[in-house]
Amino acid sequence: MQEITTDRVVIVGAGLGALYAALMLAPRPVVVISPERLGEGASSAWAQGGVAAAMDLADSPEAHAIDTEVAGAGTVDAEVARMVTEAAREHILQLTTLGTPFDRTEDGDYVLSREAAHSFARVVRVKGDQAGAEIMSALIDEVRATASIQVLEGALATRLLVSNGVVDGVELQSSAPEGSSPVMLRGAGYLLAGGGSGGLYALTTNPPRIRGQVIGMAARAGAVIADAEFVQFHPTAIDVGEDPAPLATEALRGEGAILLNKAGERFMTAEHPDAELAPRDIVARAIFAQTQAGNRPVLDTRQALGIQITDHFPSVAEACLRNSVDPVVQPIPVAAAAHYHMGGIATDQQGRAEGLGNLWVCGEASSTGLHGANRLASNGLLEALVYARICALDIAEHCAMEDIAEPVVPIFSKVAGTERSDAITALRQTMTAHVGVLRDADGMKAALRRIAKLEEAHGTDESFRNMCATATLIAASALMREESRGAHARIDFPDPLPGPGKRSRMTLEEALSLRTQIVSEDP
Ligand code: SIN
Repeated sequence: MQEITTDRVVIVGAGLGALYAALMLAPRPVVVISPERLGEGASSAWAQGGVAAAMDLADSPEAHAIDTEVAGAGTVDAEVARMVTEAAREHILQLTTLGTPFDRTEDGDYVLSREAAHSFARVVRVKGDQAGAEIMSALIDEVRATASIQVLEGALATRLLVSNGVVDGVELQSSAPEGSSPVMLRGAGYLLAGGGSGGLYALTTNPPRIRGQVIGMAARAGAVIADAEFVQFHPTAIDVGEDPAPLATEALRGEGAILLNKAGERFMTAEHPDAELAPRDIVARAIFAQTQAGNRPVLDTRQALGIQITDHFPSVAEACLRNSVDPVVQPIPVAAAAHYHMGGIATDQQGRAEGLGNLWVCGEASSTGLHGANRLASNGLLEALVYARICALDIAEHCAMEDIAEPVVPIFSKVAGTERSDAITALRQTMTAHVGVLRDADGMKAALRRIAKLEEAHGTDESFRNMCATATLIAASALMREESRGAHARIDFPDPLPGPGKRSRMTLEEALSLRTQIVSEDP
């Protein structure tokens, strides 16, 4: 195997957290491992809503922190919520300096959108629903102009090398579908910023590459995984048969769009006093129930926005039109789809991974305690920004780096690839069927048995093993949590346990031992 040793910090992933951390580390040399061309395939670039931040003088970080805790259903780390919401403003100003063209009022103030479960309009946005794409575009320009940042496109991280509990290398392969021989890259330190797990589900809003590989890779190396059972389903994925499903941002409901069923009933008014702006888990379950009952839920923007949807929400309008739905005159068919993983690699307040040394994590791959059981809208990009900087500062303090480093040049040789797309499809269908919006013990046990079989059949494929590891952790943690809380809704345990909620922690070893026990019970 080719082995490369570099003075660069290795950053796995190329979304918002990865690029922001790379810029914060400059001029220290880093190499960014990007499976796609920069800007393609990262969840951040698909984010529509924006970044939550108390920018209005009448608003406050304290109010933002309280909303975060209430949405999180009793498992948010209050200290983390306070720290992140307090830092929000300075990151918006920093992104503005880096060239993000946030929407402004005539007076020059930031235009602020209202999203579900926020007590204030506090989501800064760009060109309506273009926040993710525009922030990424500004960062990519800056990254391309920064000499200390090497971007390695077309490479996929598949395995961490650990020596005495400390990460000592990351194995890379070509990200081409047929894979390649592995290359071992040893860097000065390692930052995982490679996204969440939405694509482990058959119905998802996440880009196709985002299938829990980074969380699974860290779990296989011994990292502790927190809150794996908490997977957020977005209520209004556009239900037109596309995979991934395009998103109809929650900001549309903030503008007054309403949810109807095929009988024309506005069903959310009976579900929650905030109706369409109830917390995301509640709206997602209501949509799911309507879909299951054959009531074909739709999002109706006609009255609230009319023709303005075309200019104010161009991504949504374009996704509708390419599927022959004209949102100016027709309601938009919607379904609940896997959107964001609150769980991930347990990290401390320095962004260090619990259980492994020389490893930092930021963004959706991490579980910092900010989101609890249900992430507040537009807190995802915010968390990525805040922890990217925290990680960068801590890495700079603890990793010995030279100022200049040679570029990393891996040589990926072709190997006879294994066909695994059917296995991935089966894994995704299993997760949607048994570990989705509503769960019960029988379904989750069935999921664990199925994942075990798929892994046994395709266990030589490192990337697939990473996906199976994360799927196993989600199903096992969900099985162990015998209550309903936030996004984790169990038919067999419909109520939350009394008292404050507890975060969960599980290693892959523990999850596999539970899986083995369940497989052995198979009649
Ligand atoms: C949305 O725009 O509805 C999604 C925003 C988010 O997931 O935070």
